Amino acid sequence: MYPSKDINIRSASMADLERIAEIERSSFSDPYPSGLLKAFFFMPSAYIVAECGGRVVGYAIGIMRRETLGHIVSIAVDPLERQQGVGWALLNSLIDKLESMGAKRFRLEVRESNSAAKRLYTKAGFKEKGKIKGYYQDGEDAAVFVLNGDVRPQK
Ligand SMILES: CC(C)(COP(=O)(O)OP(=O)(O)OC[C@H]1O[C@@H](n2cnc3c(N)ncnc32)[C@H](O)[C@@H]1OP(=O)(O)O)[C@@H](O)C(=O)NCCC(=O)NCCS
Repeated sequence: MYPSKDINIRSASMADLERIAEIERSSFSDPYPSGLLKAFFFMPSAYIVAECGGRVVGYAIGIMRRETLGHIVSIAVDPLERQQGVGWALLNSLIDKLESMGAKRFRLEVRESNSAAKRLYTKAGFKEKGKIKGYYQDGEDAAVFVLNGDVRPQK
């Protein structure tokens, strides 16, 4: 079905930071500060952006935790560009990139109330493994989702 529009995924660079921070602020009630978004460039990370018509419309970050565990840290799409396949393209590219860095398993946390993101992860083959009580600053619980790389559904 996807892509419904022309989506280009590429590695993020420092020059994208301002736009990434803008998307972050428009996507989360508790956005990562710019300093943290910058710090991920200096970690063993997969850091990618999605462009449509030459404009950055979304980004995703994953980091390697231990040798074979890829942690999906964040994924966000400009609110005006959602539900057109950008999040799906970002998530699959991020998993590909983490796999190329050695990841065989993937993990992420998502707000219990975030049904759009939960559906995205479920569609990509993630399974809900448990909850972390009061994970977020406002007290909301996190759902923990995991994926084994060898059971990824067809993209
Ligand atoms: C979650 C998010 C990244 C999805 O991005 P997107 O570009 O809209 O997603 P896509 O268009 O690629 O949709 C892929 C799948 O995600 C799910 N999905 C996306 N938006 C949805 C919505 N509003 N309601 C229900 N399911 C949704 C669907 O399963 C969809 O597949 P389908 O269209 O075949 O049903 C986006 O909503 C976002 O940036 N949200 C705010 C930030 C956030 O919550 N990030 C996740 C933090 S853990």
